[in-house]
Order: sequence, then structure tokens, then C-alpha cells
Amino acid sequence: MSSEPINVLFVCLGNICRSPMAEAVFAHVVKQKQLDGNFGTIDSAGTSSFHVGENPDSRSASTCKDNGVPVNHRARRVTQDDFSKFDYVLCMDNSNLADLQEMKPAGSKATVKLFGDYDPQGETIIRDPYYGGNDGFQRNFKQVTRASEGLLKALGLI
Ligand code: 4NP
Repeated sequence: MSSEPINVLFVCLGNICRSPMAEAVFAHVVKQKQLDGNFGTIDSAGTSSFHVGENPDSRSASTCKDNGVPVNHRARRVTQDDFSKFDYVLCMDNSNLADLQEMKPAGSKATVKLFGDYDPQGETIIRDPYYGGNDGFQRNFKQVTRASEGLLKALGLI
């Protein structure tokens, strides 16, 4: 176990579909593997304020629950402080990444990258499922599950 807890923030556009799913799945995998002691805050946020204060999208929540993953989040927007509070700021697509790189304060040591960079199958983009069908959420779920394991491997924890 490393001495400093690692803080991880997941980011998408609305913070109601992909990033609360990524947060819930990553926290669940961490707990299952009894790695809780290695992590501090695991949270999620959106680059937009469209859905601030809302619960996760029902399709995202039901996909998690159907897979035994508890979800509990209220949407919020990314803040400048997040870049000092979190060691990893992991986003879903290139649009999120461009927005975060623009926001990132000069002195921030946060690692800002695509969560999909940790996918061992190399599917780097976790696509916006909002206007699509349930299959998009199913696909997102598989991607964030693989990337969660990949991140833990990259951190040398599994
Ligand atoms: P998310 O999905 O970024 O994965 O939370 C979206 C949610 C809402 C919208 C777009 C994407 N929207 O346009 O309202």
C-alpha cells in the first residue's frame, strides 16, 4: 500500500451518464480488490453545468445496478480546485480532454488524460451515450470496467 492516498476524478460533459458510471465502477472494483486504503477521494464531475444537482441518468444508474454496482452521485461542474485536489483527472473523449487542458492551472501536477488510455483493448474513446440507446450504456460499462483494471495495473496495485 502506498503512503499517500491517490485521489481520482472522472470527467465527462454532463456528469450524469459516463463519469458517474466510471466513478461507481472504479470505486466498486477498488473495494472488491480491497484496495480502498490506497485511495482518498474517488469522484466525478462534468465540463458543463447542464445537469448540475441532478442524479445520474436512469439508464446509467440501471446499467450499474444490473451489474451489482451501487451508484450515488449528484452532478457538479469541474472546478479549478479539482486540479490541485485530484492526482488523476480522467475523461471520456477528446472534447472533454481539450476542455480540461484549457482549464488546467499552470502549476497543477494532476495527470489529465483519457480514462480509455488504460483500456487494455485500446478503445480510448468512451462515447457520449446520451442520445443513443441502451447499447451505448452497456458498451460504456464494459469500457470503464476494463479501464478500471487497467488503471490499477498501471498504478502497480494489481
Ligand atoms: P455525459 O452524457 O457527458 O456522459 O453525462 C451527456 C449528458 C447530457 C448531455 C450530453 C451528454 N446533454 O447534452 O445534455
